[in-house]
Order: sequence, then C-alpha cells, then structure tokens
Amino acid sequence: MDYRKIKGTNDILPDESLLWKNVREELEKLFVSYGFAYEITPVLEPYELFVRGIGQGTDIVNKEMYSFKSGSGKDIALKPEETVVLFRSIFENNFLTDSSIQKLYYYTPIFRHERPQKGRYREFYQFGVESINAASPERDAEVIELGQRVLERFSITDTELELNSIGCRECRPKYRQELVLYLKGVEEQLCPDCKQRMVTNPLRVLDCKNEQCRKAVKNAPSTIEHLCSECSAHFKEVKDSLDRRNIRYIVNDRIVRGLDYYSRTVFEFIEKGDKLGSQSTIIGGGRYDYLGDEIADKHVPAIGFAGGFERLIMSISEDIRKKCIMQGKLNAYVVYIDQKQKNYAEGILSMLRQGGIASDMSLENDNMKKQMKNASRTGAAYTVICGENEEKENTVTIRNMETGEQVSVRAELNAIREVIIG
Ligand code: HAM
Repeated sequence: MDYRKIKGTNDILPDESLLWKNVREELEKLFVSYGFAYEITPVLEPYELFVRGIGQGTDIVNKEMYSFKSGSGKDIALKPEETVVLFRSIFENNFLTDSSIQKLYYYTPIFRHERPQKGRYREFYQFGVESINAASPERDAEVIELGQRVLERFSITDTELELNSIGCRECRPKYRQELVLYLKGVEEQLCPDCKQRMVTNPLRVLDCKNEQCRKAVKNAPSTIEHLCSECSAHFKEVKDSLDRRNIRYIVNDRIVRGLDYYSRTVFEFIEKGDKLGSQSTIIGGGRYDYLGDEIADKHVPAIGFAGGFERLIMSISEDIRKKCIMQGKLNAYVVYIDQKQKNYAEGILSMLRQGGIASDMSLENDNMKKQMKNASRTGAAYTVICGENEEKENTVTIRNMETGEQVSVRAELNAIREVIIG
C-alpha cells in the first residue's frame, strides 16, 4: 500500500484507545463535578476569527494555521485552538443574556502546522474549560485548582504550576515600552524570530525557548513589577485564593503565553520528569478579558485553560495505564468444548451480553485450543466454559485467566455475574 498517515498525525490503536476512552471519561466527570457543561463546536471556522482573536503577531496565526478557500471563496481554517471558537459560539447563540457565568468544557481535535516531535503534533486533541463572564480572582483560582485536580486524578505528581500576571490595557503599554527599550540593548543576542517579535510581540521574547534568548532576557524588566494597582490587587487575590485551596505554585514572571488575547493571570502546568522531553507543558491557560471586545465589541471577562490530551496520556504512570486498559477489556470469553455445545454456548453468550457483561466467543467452529488462544488474545478476564456435563446440568465452568482458578456455577446471569464482576 502506498498510503501513509499525514506527518504529525496519529492512529490511536487498541489498547491505547481504551486508555484514551477511560481518561476522557474521568476528565469529563471531573469537569462536570466543578459545574462545567460540555460544548461541541465545528472543526471548520472562519479564518479571520483566529487572526482577530489570537492576534496577527503570534506563531499560531503567522505560521501554523491550516487554511483553504471554500468553493464560494470564503477563507476557512481548521481550528488551531478552542477558546476563540467558544467565544464565537456564545455570541452567535446569544448565550450571555444576563450577568451570570457560563462554565463550558470541551474535548476536541486541534490543528497546528508545527514541526512534529515527541508531544508535538499537527493534529492533536485538547481538553479544556472556560469560565465566561467571570471577573472575580476567585474564578482564576477555581480554574487553576481544576487544572491541578486533572493531574492529581491521574497521579501525575512530578509537575510544577507556574503563575504570572501580564497586566491589562492600562499598565501593559508602559511595560511594553520599557521592555522594548531593554531588548534593544540585547538585540544582537536574540534569535531571528525574537528580533521580529521585538516589533510585533515583544512580550513573547520573554518565553522564547532558545538558550541564547533566555540568557539575554535574564535581567529584563519584570511584568509583575509593572502592574497597575487593580492588576496588582487581582494577582494578590488569586495567589491568596490558591493558598487557601492548598495549591502550590511558583511565580515565574517570564511566562507570557503564545496567544495575544491574555491579560492579567497566566499559568502553565509543566512536567518536570522525563516523560515529555522538550514539550513539557501539559496544561496552559489564563485570563482573556478583552477577547470579547476584539471579536464582538462586547466586554466579557473570562478565564480558562487547555491541556494537550496526548501529553496527558504520555504523563500517566504505568500502573494507571494498565488499570485503564484492563477496565475496557472483555469480561468473559465463552468457550465450547465440542461443536455439540455451540448452541448452548451461544445462549450463554447472548444472556451475558444482554446482562451488560462484555463478552465474545468464536463463531468459526474453532477447536478448544484455538478458542482458548483467542480468549487470551482478547485479554478477557474470565473464560466461561461449556462442555457436555455443563449443558446436561445447566451450569458453566468459569476460569479466572490470571490465576487459573475454576468454579462451577448455575447457568444464570446473577450467578455468573457474582463470579465475574463481584
Ligand atoms: P496553548 O498553550 O496553545 O493554549 O495549548 C494548550 C495545550 O495544548 C498545551 O499546553 C499543550 O499541552 C497542548 N498543545 C499545544 N500545541 C500542541 C501540539 N502541537 N501537539 C500536542 N499538544 C499541543 C491554548 O490553546 C489556549 N486556548 C488555552 C486557554 C484556554 N487559555 C484560556 N483558555
């Protein structure tokens, strides 16, 4: 076959897909327990929405968007993130009828034309939450706490929460001026991208991963020291609220994030072990109080985060991985010793399936040996064996595939369930 998957995309095969399913279900339970409702939006969106919402000078808009012209000449993009899309949707559907908060969560494919490497793909999945119409610093803390709970839920402990405030429309222009002044002094040491950013998006120079740039900005003015009194008070309240919630964080005034819509609080959960290599940010987010002004002329303060689902999966411990995969396996594989018992076995199979016990059997008239081989290939926890005696006595023999222990029980759903499910 001459066909191969597109570079930067992934096939998620069983058992990996079982892990994905379980992790996604756990995530959704967690988001619902914090009062977030699920929203599904299209993959195809107006190109201009992202230029306006994410910003002209950003890598996503400048280099990474997949876009094309539709038959009628409209510029369409495969969505490179979800926050802007949710905002488009809440305005379009008149969700914000009063001042109450909208709490939404999502799980969605995202497309970015980046250089693929471990943990960085061109088609990947993001999970995330957005608290919309939410101005209080307590909401920042609630969202950040939820990010921490995501990691805890999957026992991902080797992480750090880094927190910063990048100010508002009042204080940022002055900070930006001072930063540009500083950057001019170290311009020679900056990478070509950062030389460009100095003009288009100087704050981004602060979190460039290039070692040389990092050194150059070591003594750059700090965002936090240039906050106006309101931003300063907001940041203090976020930190106090995190302290009350026992969420540990490190203030890192070099975190600015890669999208233009942020204001005030920004944060990242970073993996400190060796599971993710250089793509170590699992969850990133922040406040984006001006996004509504940009795309709909409406001021709607909001805060949220998104996480890379593949990166979350990669960070999960081997134990949880195994447990999740086991959870999605067959409960039982029904085996007939001789062809004469095939009908009897089919009756048992049908009863188990109707009773919600995940089961299968060979329909190909395989001999007993082949059936047992099939059973272990499926990873079924038990085999339910139907022989001549079993049929005569209306029983089955249940074999625990791990321990080899066998018990004989009545061929009734509850009796079989008692052994298999407990
Ligand atoms: P982001 O930092 O661009 O933020 O992406 C969020 C997360 O998506 C990253 O922390 C990372 O785990 C994952 N991610 C990003 N790019 C890739 C990639 N190429 N391959 C695999 N995973 C990737 C946002 O998208 C914002 N919308 C987050 C947000 C929500 N801010 C407020 N609300």
